[in-house]
Amino acid sequence: MSLNDLLALGRDHYLPVYRQRELVLERGQGARVWDSEGRDYIDFSAGIAVCSLGHADPDLVAALVEQAGRLWHTSNVFHSEPPLRLAQELVQASRFAERVFFCNSGAEANEAAIKLVRKWAAGQGREAARRTIVTFRGSFHGRTLAAVTATAQPKYQAGYEPLPGGFRYVDFNDVAALEAAMAGGDVAAVMLEPVQGEGGVLPAAPGFLQAVRALCDRHGALLVLDEIQSGMGRTGELFAHWHDGVVPDIVTLAKALGGGFPIGAMLVGPQAADAMRFGDHGTTFGGNPLAAAVARVALRKIASSAVVENVSRQAAALREGLSAIDARHGLFQEVRGRGLMLGAVLRPEHAGRAAEILDRAAAQGLLLLQAGPDVLRFVPALTITGADVAEGLERLEAALR
Ligand SMILES: Cc1ncc(COP(=O)(O)O)c(C=O)c1O
Repeated sequence: MSLNDLLALGRDHYLPVYRQRELVLERGQGARVWDSEGRDYIDFSAGIAVCSLGHADPDLVAALVEQAGRLWHTSNVFHSEPPLRLAQELVQASRFAERVFFCNSGAEANEAAIKLVRKWAAGQGREAARRTIVTFRGSFHGRTLAAVTATAQPKYQAGYEPLPGGFRYVDFNDVAALEAAMAGGDVAAVMLEPVQGEGGVLPAAPGFLQAVRALCDRHGALLVLDEIQSGMGRTGELFAHWHDGVVPDIVTLAKALGGGFPIGAMLVGPQAADAMRFGDHGTTFGGNPLAAAVARVALRKIASSAVVENVSRQAAALREGLSAIDARHGLFQEVRGRGLMLGAVLRPEHAGRAAEILDRAAAQGLLLLQAGPDVLRFVPALTITGADVAEGLERLEAALR
């Protein structure tokens, strides 16, 4: 089928909630992908921070193929080995969790966390009005109705009212505001991303996570960390909150957990591990053996020192390249983020032009993301090579020029 015919299929049949670029990707290898016309791209997007081991990683492919020949699905009525083993491995790797709930996406992991917080609070005899969850402006927690309500950005909520109650929003990195929001004693949990992703690649300020932890302790609230984008090695540690030395009560994961195969998880620490009982929650596909078999290998590889070291090496190269581009063209107000989760904030005179730059980058053979209208987002494979970073930067400069 021709490119135009393929694009017409999307135009005619998809619910128009996305604005895909006018190309059709066909295959990938490492940090490169090729489209249906045979054009190659450096991939600085990794399927939105998902393909952290690059495309077609041979070990992930082998795990998937091996499991595909054995057993595809059991539902949660029966056990299979891959999710059992993955649960143990995640608990051990997490340094805090006792139990795991598997699901299929980030929104579902956060939905599970929101429900768990409510059950936990209910189990403590707190009436519904005292089960408030505090989240932060600029956050992104997913698109289900509860997750989008947790997402404190009006643009994602408009038109979906009535939204579920029991959420309160506070400015990110504002300890005093959080303190005030918790003063009434009705807060059951504080939920946040250690690095806000969709909201502009904005890291928690130094000391902020510790302050949130302390306030949660003081007010008997759970600390829920959404590590869906920042977790699984993306920031140079397996979990971004390790940089801050805090111990959360709940961590949600998805995206890179399956290296490109859909899987999500909620990890729960000792405070809340017994809050849900038989029948309290569930999903047909959660912990699917195919997904779990791939995720086990992804976890092992992402946690390896080779990958961790590559993240800091390539993050430095990417930052250096972006400041060199900025020195020549004066486009960026700042480059922020952590590890290979970086955002280049456009200067005020170029505000609102991120989408246009993404189009121009694609035309130059570079797949790039934005995080809002003013921020270019860089989340390449954690295994990207120095040569691919350099070539991606060259293509970016051509696009910006
Ligand atoms: C921090 C964070 N939480 C939750 C989600 C939602 O994940 P999903 O799109 O898999 O539902 C995302 C997706 O971008 C995310 O970045």
